[in-house]
Amino acid sequence: MNYRLHIYDDEVSTSHALADLISEKANSKASNSEKLNIAVSGGKTPSLLFALLAQEYNNSIPWNSVRFFWVDERCVEPTDPESNYGMTYNTLLKNINIPDENIFRMKGELIPEIEAGRYQKQLLNELPVRNGFPVFDLVLLGIGDDGHTASIFPNDMSLLDSELSVSVASHPVSGQKRITLTGKTICNANQVVFFVTGANKSKIVQQIVTKMPEAAKYPSSYIHDIEWNADFYLDKVAAEKI
Ligand code: 6PG
Repeated sequence: MNYRLHIYDDEVSTSHALADLISEKANSKASNSEKLNIAVSGGKTPSLLFALLAQEYNNSIPWNSVRFFWVDERCVEPTDPESNYGMTYNTLLKNINIPDENIFRMKGELIPEIEAGRYQKQLLNELPVRNGFPVFDLVLLGIGDDGHTASIFPNDMSLLDSELSVSVASHPVSGQKRITLTGKTICNANQVVFFVTGANKSKIVQQIVTKMPEAAKYPSSYIHDIEWNADFYLDKVAAEKI
């Protein structure tokens, strides 16, 4: 078992532990005059982590050595409450001293297919490339109630082995268009972290982490299978069924 479980009492301590990891990685990169290339997910879970980073790590992280990319984005304006960039901006980016050139947002307001192509080119220009795919230092993933991760949903598993680095997806219920990193880009990262909190995720976490048969249809399971050194940052209630 290569993957690692990091289980903490509650959402705050889990977020703190993840903030410590990001701080450690950013400072290590900065000490070598390098940049930390991190791809972040949206949704609700990361908002507390982002707020903590802004409030308690603003002066201990060398933000000019951190470059933010996105795992996925809803195809909406950046000011839309649904925007993953917008959530990150409001909880973190506007509250830290990070150069604009370190922010690489997916432009959800543009035509999805065109933006996916633009973002793919940008990743291949800005990041190291391995096996034909861009290499992130850290990819921060959530897990949805249906086992999706990024915007790779159970009804579109082809995104897991697409030869594209970035593609277009649609939410299976709302039909909302999304731009998303593909499975091969995610698994090409130096480190993949699943960040999951809340009792409502305990069943899906159990199914994925313990590789129960029904989990085979979950995109998160695929990433976990391929990316065998993934880290799971969980609070106690999300981990209670493991
Ligand atoms: C998104 C996210 C998505 C998210 C999961 C978990 O755009 O919604 O990237 O993959 O990580 O849906 O979302 P919660 O953190 O809100 O449970």
